[in-house]
Amino acid sequence: MDFPEKITAILISPEQLRARIAELGNQITNDFKNKDLTVIGLLKGSALFTADLVRAIELPLILDFMAISSYEGGKSTSPTGVVKILKDLDTEIEGRDVLVVEDIVDTGLTLNYLMKILRARNPASLHLCALLDRTVRRIIELPIAYRGFEIPDVYVVGYGLDHQQRYRNLPYIGTYNSTGN
Ligand code: IMP
Ligand code: MG
Repeated sequence: MDFPEKITAILISPEQLRARIAELGNQITNDFKNKDLTVIGLLKGSALFTADLVRAIELPLILDFMAISSYEGGKSTSPTGVVKILKDLDTEIEGRDVLVVEDIVDTGLTLNYLMKILRARNPASLHLCALLDRTVRRIIELPIAYRGFEIPDVYVVGYGLDHQQRYRNLPYIGTYNSTGN
């Protein structure tokens, strides 16, 4: 695939992604030994990350997915950060150790709300794993137990992340130029 013109730079290469995900997988494997781990991938952004991450975790985990509505780049969000569940889990999480996998934590509003919904289902434990963390834009404090990379205040696409649904299939994280056409 040609290097898309709107992508101004490669921020995180496929090799860097692979290496970091292997480290996260090791860490999670050690932390959840003898636990009943359920990994929840949030569609669609974290689909690629989740697929690679679970293959780096050497445990008999359950994989499930959820789709939630959140505001997308630029549009305003309600101050409460209320999100809607578009697709719920297929499995019960009560009494299980749950790891939520997200592509990027920005303001933290979406995830904060989702974690509350999941906590109400009484999992044994509830942790968050985020590939990217843009702390400079955080509005609500949100503990991220497993974090891939901290990134600066630039819009990024690729490896699951989109701009108007495009570029999710890029094998790297790239910075996106949203000015002009
Ligand atoms: P927040 O943490 O509630 O602000 O929401 C973060 C969500 O916004 C992520 O799950 C992404 O879907 C989306 N998002 C935020 N920043 C970016 C970006 O740079 N590229 C693509 N999607 C983004
Ligand atoms: Mg998302």
